[in-house]
Formats: sequence, C-alpha cells, structure tokens
Amino acid sequence: MPDLSSRSAIIIGASSGVGAALARRLSREGYTLALVARRLDRLEALAAELNHAGCVGPFAYQHDVVNSAEVPALLDQIVSDLGRLDLLIYCAGVLFPNDPTAYDTAHDQLVLQVNLVGAAAWINPVAQRFQQQHAGHIVGIGSIAGDRGRRGMPAYTASKAGLHTYLEGMRNRLWHDGVRVTTIKLGQVDTDMLKNADRRRNPITPERAADLIWRAIEKRQQTVYVPWWWALIGLTVRHLPSFIFRRLSL
Ligand SMILES: NC(=O)c1ccc[n+]([C@@H]2O[C@H](COP(=O)([O-])OP(=O)(O)OC[C@H]3O[C@@H](n4cnc5c(N)ncnc54)[C@H](OP(=O)(O)O)[C@@H]3O)[C@@H](O)[C@H]2O)c1
Repeated sequence: MPDLSSRSAIIIGASSGVGAALARRLSREGYTLALVARRLDRLEALAAELNHAGCVGPFAYQHDVVNSAEVPALLDQIVSDLGRLDLLIYCAGVLFPNDPTAYDTAHDQLVLQVNLVGAAAWINPVAQRFQQQHAGHIVGIGSIAGDRGRRGMPAYTASKAGLHTYLEGMRNRLWHDGVRVTTIKLGQVDTDMLKNADRRRNPITPERAADLIWRAIEKRQQTVYVPWWWALIGLTVRHLPSFIFRRLSL
C-alpha cells in the first residue's frame, strides 16, 4: 500500500529521457509516482529500479496519449492507486527530423496530438480535481522551439507554442484557487529525441534537466527556461525581424 502521507505525482511520458530522469528525481524527494507511457517494459523496469532504491510503488500504466478517451477512467484508477494527487507533469512529446521540404499531414497531426491535444486531455480533468481541492501543481514540458515558428518543423514549434499558451490560460484560471501551473521551456537535452534535432547546441543531461525542473517546481515558478541561458536566446529569437529569422537554417 502507498504511504498516504507522502506526496504523489503522475508523469506522462516517463519511459525515457527527461520524464524518466524526473521520476528518479521525484522519487528521491519522497513522491509516490504513477509512470505513464506506451513502453510498459521500460516503465516497469524504472518502477523496479525506484522501488529497489526505497520508493513506495511506483505504479506503471501503459497509455498512448493519442487515445484521450481513456484518460478519465485511467486518472480515476491512478488516483485510487496513489491515494492522493499533488502534481501532474506532462512530458510526452514527439519530434520528427527537421525537414523544410516535408509536407506530411499524418506526421504533423501526430505531433499536435501528442504534444498538445494529449496535454489538454490530461490537464483538464486534473485541473478540475485540483481546483476542487484548492491545491495542486501542473507542469508542462514545453520547448525553446515554441518561441518562434521554424521552417524545418512548423508542427513541433506550433505544438509547443500552443502548449505554452494553454498552460498560461490554465495558470490564470486556477491562480486564485491556490493551484500552480509551471511552463518549462526546455533547451536541448541529450535524449533519444535529440537524435531528430538538426544540430546539437550544448545539450545538458536529462539528470541536470530534471534537477532544474525540480527547482522550478519547488519554487512554484510560472515560466522557466531550462537551463536559464536559453532565456537569452529566446529573447533574441523572439525579437528578430521575420526577414532575418527566415534566413536562419532553423
Ligand atoms: N530533448 C530535447 O532536446 C528537448 C528539448 C525541448 C523540449 N523537449 C521536450 O521534452 C519532453 C521529453 O522529451 P525527451 O527529450 O525526454 O525525449 P524522449 O526520450 O523521446 O521521451 C519522450 C517521452 O514521450 C513519450 N511519448 C511519446 N509519444 C507518446 C504517446 N503517443 N503516448 C504516450 N507517451 C508518449 C515517450 O514514451 P513512449 O515512447 O514509451 O510512449 C517518452 O517517455 C518532450 O515533450 C519534448 O518535446 C525535449
């Protein structure tokens, strides 16, 4: 049985990369965890590792975020298993290789489904619960890429821009109920996803990313670039005139 006195969190997209590193970080902070993604074998291996290290649970759930109709029943199951819910981290994401010649609607729809529509499907019912309990924290893993529409990945940049704006709307809605919403604008992290990036720009490790994200959660920050120096790049990129930005090979 989970320790009902401890805090509990759901991580959507916990099977690899940043999500798995966050699971390890949160387990060290004493959280009881629900780990969600498609690759159940990876989730179960991670759960066994964390359990061996002294974490209660964690619980692993196979779920494809494209199947958003599954969310209400799965959320009920998770909350019942955890005993309580304090934190939701939406980390699931997909990126296809940067390609300014691609016009692939199926790929674009999948990116928007996983990165944005799936986030709404999880955040809505969790936000409602948190509003009723006058407490809770929602974290969305966005990207520096959402600061500007890039010719090599219009759907990915749109999905992250949409996620940032969606999270801001939820933050403004829930603020007076004591519920916090944090937007993480992630720079490059050395994960499987980075294999699809056009170039590497000083990526940090997933462990370092998880430490910095945990710091933002602890401080209940609103919007945070991870690591911080991407804020300077974001500031520059956001203010570049279009006639210059479109010449960049991004
Ligand atoms: N790495 C970077 O440089 C970087 C930069 C900026 C932002 N980000 C963001 O960081 C987040 C984590 O990415 P990562 O770098 O850690 O890459 P990753 O290792 O590829 O992790 C992606 C995660 O998303 C899950 N996921 C993908 N499609 C899913 C689906 N249909 N249903 C459920 N889960 C799904 C994957 O699990 P399954 O495959 O097991 O389902 C996996 O757990 C993403 O939102 C990404 O956009 C990454």
